[in-house]
Amino acid sequence: MKLGAIPENLIERILLASGVVPTPLIDTLIAMLLARTVMVGTKLGVFQALALTALTADEVASHCLTHPETTQKLLNALVGVGYLRVDNNRYLLAPVARKYLLQNRPQSLHENMIFRFLEWAATEHYEDFLRSGKPLDIHKALLSNEQWRLYQRGMGSIAKTLASEVAQRTLVPQNARDMLDIGGSHGYYSVALCRRHPKLRAVILDLPEAVEQAAPLLAQEGMGERVIHRVGNTLTDDLGTEAWDLIFIAQVVHHFDNATNRELARRVARALRVGGVFVIQEVTQDRVPKKAGQFGALMNLFFSVTSQAGTWLLEEIADWQRQAGLVPLKPIQFRSMPGVWQQTAVKR
Ligand SMILES: C[S@@+](CC[C@H](N)C(=O)[O-])C[C@H]1O[C@@H](n2cnc3c(N)ncnc32)[C@H](O)[C@@H]1O
Repeated sequence: MKLGAIPENLIERILLASGVVPTPLIDTLIAMLLARTVMVGTKLGVFQALALTALTADEVASHCLTHPETTQKLLNALVGVGYLRVDNNRYLLAPVARKYLLQNRPQSLHENMIFRFLEWAATEHYEDFLRSGKPLDIHKALLSNEQWRLYQRGMGSIAKTLASEVAQRTLVPQNARDMLDIGGSHGYYSVALCRRHPKLRAVILDLPEAVEQAAPLLAQEGMGERVIHRVGNTLTDDLGTEAWDLIFIAQVVHHFDNATNRELARRVARALRVGGVFVIQEVTQDRVPKKAGQFGALMNLFFSVTSQAGTWLLEEIADWQRQAGLVPLKPIQFRSMPGVWQQTAVKR
């Protein structure tokens, strides 16, 4: 999947094919404006205002406490990019906005759109990173409780859309009882796995600031003592010995460098019971830059700027597991989130 110049009529198709369209303008100016327009529409509550019924620009403005004329400009921009429709001066949600941008929907990405403002700010660090070679450590750069709240909720909304496929496709040993979810934040993967495997209970290990903001999200799931948070640091805490049947870590290893991940895999291997599994879920990319695709290539740079590493190759992830004495299995790619993979290994 990629973003790019898509012709809107026959003449544009011919022009694009003949190479005369200045595509860098679309890749930068239009991509930037599209992103910001959808982000702001979400943040100001435009989509939510239209959840129940079609409204005029004035009515949307009074719902969102915005200026009527400028609101109309935003609404027209959202029509132009396919997130709204307009009929008789009344605006209504297009299916993509109804499915993904309303709050409290099963596949809502609303909170993730709000988190995008923090990611946007992080991209301001690109030049510094390239000159100095020094990444931002995103977990040290998040300074306020509000930023941690947006981070945890932003991650949660992506995880919610993926959790049922994760629960279906994650290998869980027979009769598994104990799961450790490293950097598990909101706990949605643990919750989905515990709902599917009634004997399983889970501990979510995460940093103090994360647990403080993620605790209300987990509480809403009503899992009681079966899924609980533990405040800690996976790099320094004792993970135990032969204590877990499943150790799961999603979207965390891109924050750690190679040596740290190798050492973590070794400690995980010790902490697993025989027959236990170690599951690493990540956005990965191909070794050959050309084959990484737009998504893999851009995410690698973004993760490199915002954390200590970048995206890892599946072979590198499997190698940490193998070196730790585990037996890596064939990786799986998720259908509901292209670009996200899981690499599982078993303790024989
Ligand atoms: C990108 S989020 C992923 C959250 C969740 N696993 C998911 O996939 O939605 C990374 C999480 O790892 C946590 N984390 C980062 N470093 C950690 C550490 N050293 N120990 C425990 N948790 C850590 C962060 O606080 C954050 O909640």
